[in-house]
Amino acid sequence: MCGIIGYVGKKAASPILLEGLRRLEYRGYDSAGVALVCGGDLLVRKKMGKIGEGLARLLKSEPVEGNLGIGHTRWATHGPPSDKNSHPQLDQSGKIAIVHNGVIENYDALKQKLLATGHKFKSDTDTEVLAHLIGDYYEKRRGKVGSSRRDDRTARRAVPTQNGSNPLTQAVCDALREVIGTYGIAVICADEPDIIVGARRGSPLIIGIGVGENFLASDANAIVAHTKKVVYLNDYDVATITPERFDVLNLGTDTANVQISKLEFSQEDAVRGKHAHFMLKEIYEQPRTVENALRGRVDNEGATAKFGGLNLTSAELRSIDRIVIAASGTSWHAALVGEYLIEELAQIPVEVEFAHEFCYRNAPLEKSTVLLVLSQSGETADTLAALREAKRRGHRALAIVNVVGSTIARESDGGIYMHAGPEIGVASTKAFVSTLTILALLAVHLGRLRNLSARRALEILHALEAVPKQLESILAQNNAFKKLAKKYAKADDFFFLSRGYNYPIALEGALKLKEISYIHAEGYSAAEMKHGPIALIDPKTPTVFLVPQDSIYDKTMANLAMIRARKGPIIALATEGDKQIGKVANDVIYLPKALEPINPILASVPLQLFAYHIAVLRGCDVDKPRNLAKSVTVE
Ligand code: AGP
Repeated sequence: MCGIIGYVGKKAASPILLEGLRRLEYRGYDSAGVALVCGGDLLVRKKMGKIGEGLARLLKSEPVEGNLGIGHTRWATHGPPSDKNSHPQLDQSGKIAIVHNGVIENYDALKQKLLATGHKFKSDTDTEVLAHLIGDYYEKRRGKVGSSRRDDRTARRAVPTQNGSNPLTQAVCDALREVIGTYGIAVICADEPDIIVGARRGSPLIIGIGVGENFLASDANAIVAHTKKVVYLNDYDVATITPERFDVLNLGTDTANVQISKLEFSQEDAVRGKHAHFMLKEIYEQPRTVENALRGRVDNEGATAKFGGLNLTSAELRSIDRIVIAASGTSWHAALVGEYLIEELAQIPVEVEFAHEFCYRNAPLEKSTVLLVLSQSGETADTLAALREAKRRGHRALAIVNVVGSTIARESDGGIYMHAGPEIGVASTKAFVSTLTILALLAVHLGRLRNLSARRALEILHALEAVPKQLESILAQNNAFKKLAKKYAKADDFFFLSRGYNYPIALEGALKLKEISYIHAEGYSAAEMKHGPIALIDPKTPTVFLVPQDSIYDKTMANLAMIRARKGPIIALATEGDKQIGKVANDVIYLPKALEPINPILASVPLQLFAYHIAVLRGCDVDKPRNLAKSVTVE
């Protein structure tokens, strides 16, 4: 989950790299560094810690010139966060620098081979091994080109021809053919002052196409300020960029499938604006997010929902006899809501799987089982692996994704974009609410191809169209959530409980609190508590209880009474007009009345704000919580 960037052109590379890294910092922030080529020298600046405290200060005190460079912001996999383990990493000669996102699984075997030939390593990273391997091959490749250079007096330094035949590109190809694992890399060499080589397998990498300048980046946020023309590289692609051109070859097929795309968001979408944190901005964007998710997909006339990209006919959709939904983290919680929605409205059996479990447990799948993956980033390695596993076994794989052109979006057989805009805060909020909205639409679509009545379908569609306004009214209660957060911010443990459609939201509320405030919080089924975990309830352990007036209200209230009987403080999320709840809960947040399938969308927002305010009160870094990264591109 690191962030990488490369620039080659006429401008000073250092400020472009630094600004790009700031925009990539949500992908990982253990350390950051840059390497530039200037006057035949390779200049490296790198520092442990977040960019603001580390690299930015270093570049202020020790600036570097040059029009070509690469940068990296790290989420540590191999080797603890430290200056020496920061990227860029260098080869043995110290003339080649590499930045890497991914994991070289056979790095130890490669390292032993290099050690045996006299290589010395300075870091604990797998990336340094790849740098040395490239350096080795570069010498061999340059030797070959060098001999022809020596013969041809007029030969200039090799520049990439159509298939990137300069020695640096070829050396990268040679080295990658020995690698097992995942990589998104950018490589530069002091002897190649206008070439950057990029390559990807399993970790995202795009080319940004400028005028007299070109870019490489892990994702478009890093370069949207400079260009909206991009090429999404595919696995095994190797790109060579110079100020004037780019070439792409593919290690697997030799001819790369190069398509130029236009980014659909602007630089403004990717900045924080007036909000104190990206997470708060994204929470407040949710009424618009839901509108974007609904836009063009509600068919009131046909009493159904419509999608352009499922790539399945109505007959094929009708023939689906089971859906497996695979996802990770917050997206997995959305999958659980999707199970309730699709089973109730479409009567199709649904099984929810952790993506990482689905890949390796060889679950039995019927012929007409479809896999649906959910992913904001479209790059989560576990989820991508699940998608590839389903396709390997011959099953259709659909995806609901936010990042356009992401790997999961491009490798799925069909799908639905969230159109939620960039989600920068590490804690997912608007993408979650967008996914729930789209799952409700999908359930209606599938249901109407079966036995869902037009009346019930229109009820759901109209309830969805009312959500943006309802979210506005919930957001207007922000000060109340802030007050509540103040009252409970010092607790060391929390429970989040509910049942039915809101059980996944209890899990999600607990995750939000955990990941940004570092408080231990457990989401649990309210009914399940009496089978053991209720032993943990005491006056110091607050419970957030989601208890909407739905079909199981009485049961949930009975579970709430069990907590209250053991003097556990209760914060209830209840439905406006509920006259009972105030008598049994210590604090109550009232939500607008809504249909049962819509309650999860409404209940998510107070829990996001509750977690946000507690994290701020506890002085946590809300947008870049410790140990986390926005997109988990390693398994
Ligand atoms: C959620 O707040 C976390 N940041 C994390 O659980 C995230 O949802 C998970 O890593 C899946 O990411 P994805 O939706 O991009 O696949």
